[in-house]
This record gives sequence, structure tokens and C-alpha cells, in this order.
Amino acid sequence: MVVKKLEINGFRNLNGFAVDLAAGKNLIFGANGSGKTSVIEALYFLGFGKSFLAVQRRELVCFGGDGFYLSAEVTDKSGENTVTACLEKGLALELNGERSFLAQVGRHLYPLFFSHFLYSQVIDGAPHLRKLIDRFIYGLSSLYLHDVLRYNDALKQKNHLLKNLGRPINNSELQGWNRLLAETGSKLVKKRMAFTNQLNGAMGEAFSDSLSLRYDPALLSGRPFSETTLLEDLDRARAAEIRSRRSLIGPQRDRFEVTVNGRKLQLFSSGEKKKYLLMLYMAYIDLFRRARGEYPVLLLDDYDAVMDERNLEFVLGHFPAMQVVATSVEADERFERCFELKKE
Ligand SMILES: Nc1ncnc2c1ncn2[C@@H]1O[C@H](COP(=O)(O)OP(=O)(O)OP(=O)(O)O)[C@@H](O)[C@H]1O
Ligand SMILES: [Mg+2]
Repeated sequence: MVVKKLEINGFRNLNGFAVDLAAGKNLIFGANGSGKTSVIEALYFLGFGKSFLAVQRRELVCFGGDGFYLSAEVTDKSGENTVTACLEKGLALELNGERSFLAQVGRHLYPLFFSHFLYSQVIDGAPHLRKLIDRFIYGLSSLYLHDVLRYNDALKQKNHLLKNLGRPINNSELQGWNRLLAETGSKLVKKRMAFTNQLNGAMGEAFSDSLSLRYDPALLSGRPFSETTLLEDLDRARAAEIRSRRSLIGPQRDRFEVTVNGRKLQLFSSGEKKKYLLMLYMAYIDLFRRARGEYPVLLLDDYDAVMDERNLEFVLGHFPAMQVVATSVEADERFERCFELKKE
């Protein structure tokens, strides 16, 4: 998939911004504070309905404004499509002028984001890596979003019940939520297991270093996993959950870890960490291409902060047909098209 044109209005410091992107490697450059990250953030927002930063949607509206409007013309194997996101009273996503859902939009625009802050968060924080893996799985199958939303919704209701200890806990109600959590949660665990195997296969094929993703589901038993074993675990955890007034086990607490030759990625130097995480991304991109018959759009914020010469050559050269939108403070002739952003 290729973003041909991007328009941004009233988003962060950008207003009346429009850019025609090349199908290959693009670089947005300009001084600090000129709005480079905001351009990438707008593209990400169009694909995921949220920012990659921990901000509320409203905080993305240009100071003093009432809302924002983003639009991208995207070419993918289905043809040309226009994706828009408009935040006024609420958020409206549209595909070719018609109201649409995130999962539908995700079939045409899947931005894959890599930056120095993401890399440090992902390596050192279990929830960040879990979220990244979830986004990866969603990239391969948009239905996964539906499973995650159903699970999260049931979990919210169960936690509400557990917190509400002013009245005696209603055991059958709790059991009902546990049954739903086991049904929806087991789908998540199975998809995470399958994805981990797929990614490990792709990494094993592509690289000689033994780079590996380890998945540890937050379960009590070490038995072969099934919906029934998850329900049994939830039953066994019930007394402890009532005491602590919150859910203690389930996919919301699963852990992933990246290892290289059996050693945790955290133990490597920062240059090595960057290299290995990029390799993991490259293996994912290969899976994406095989599953969907096209490439995601790779967003690289402050690419020179995360990459030395060799890594950049590797990323730009590894998938010649993939669109890249990178940012930096300076122009770089290795990119096919460079756009300068001027600070107003
Ligand atoms: N809601 C907002 N409305 C208006 N401006 C904002 C808003 N949020 C952030 N800004 C400002 O927008 C400007 C652009 O930010 P951005 O992070 O895109 O810059 P950048 O070009 O990536 O800079 P750097 O090179 O430092 O990474 C900054 O001055 C920032 O303070
Ligand atoms: Mg920036």
C-alpha cells in the first residue's frame, strides 16, 4: 500500500498542510518543532484512530481550534481509496466518503511505526511490547481487533463487579464473566501463540543470529492451553481476585520477551538493541507481505536517532518496494523525495 497524498488541517501545529508522497522512500526534514513528528502522527492516526503518543485525541487539536481533519489518498491492491479522520464533537472515520470502522480502514492503510522512544519503551516495558505484538497481529488479520475489544469489554465489566464489594459478590455473575473471558481470552492466547511461532519462523529464515520472541501467557497451569484450562485457571484464581478486587490472570497480563541467542534483549548494548528490534520489524514486514500480498507503510521518526549508516541502508534496501516516510532534521540524498517543513 502507498499513501499518495496526505492533507492535514488543524492537527498539532499543522494547518493547510498537503504533501504528495513518492511510492518509495520519503523524508520529511526541518528544524526542531517544525511539525515532522506530527506529519507521521497524522498518518498513524488515520490507520489506528489514535496517536502513538500517550495523549488524548482532543490534545491533538491545534491550540485554540475546535477539531481537525486528516485525509489520505491510498493505493493498495484493491485500487485507490480515500481515508479521512475528522474530529469535531466526536471522531468520524470515512472510507471513500462513507462512514467506516477502524478494522475496515485498516484493510487499506496499515502504518507501521518505529522511533527511538518506541524502541526504548518496547524493549524495557512488558505492556508496550504486548501492545506492539497485538498491533502486529491486527495487521495480519483485522478480525483480531474484534476479539480484543470483546475481551476488554468483558474484563471491564468483571473488574467493575470485583471493585463493587459494598455488596456480596454475586458468584453466578462472576462465573458468567469468567466464561465469557475464557471464550474470548482463549482466542487471544491462541492467536498470540500462532503469531509467535510465525514470527519466529520468519526470523529464523531471514537471520543467522538466533533472534526469538518468547510468549508467556499469564496462566496458572502449565498444561496444554485451551478454553477449558483458562476457565479452570480463572476459577482457581477467584478467591484471590475477590480479595484483591481485580482480575489477576488472563491475556491482559501476558508477557512477551525478545531474546538473542538465548539472552534477553535488555542485556545488549543500545546499538545492538536497535539492530535486533529492526530485524524483528523486518521479519514482521515479510509476514505482512506474505499474508496480505502487499507492504505496510513504514513510518520512521527521527530515523538518524535510531539508525547508523548500516542500519539505514539495511532498512531502505531490504524491501525496495515498500513505502517509507521518515523524518530528520536534515535532508538526505539517499531518500527518493525530501520535503522541507518550515517553522511558522
Ligand atoms: N495541539 C497542538 N497545537 C498546536 N501545536 C502543538 C500542539 N501539540 C504540539 N504542538 C507543537 O507543534 C510543534 C511541532 O511538534 P513536532 O513534535 O511535530 O515537531 P518536530 O518537527 O517533530 O520536532 P523535533 O525535531 O524536535 O522532533 C511543536 O512546537 C509542539 O510544541
Ligand atoms: Mg519530532
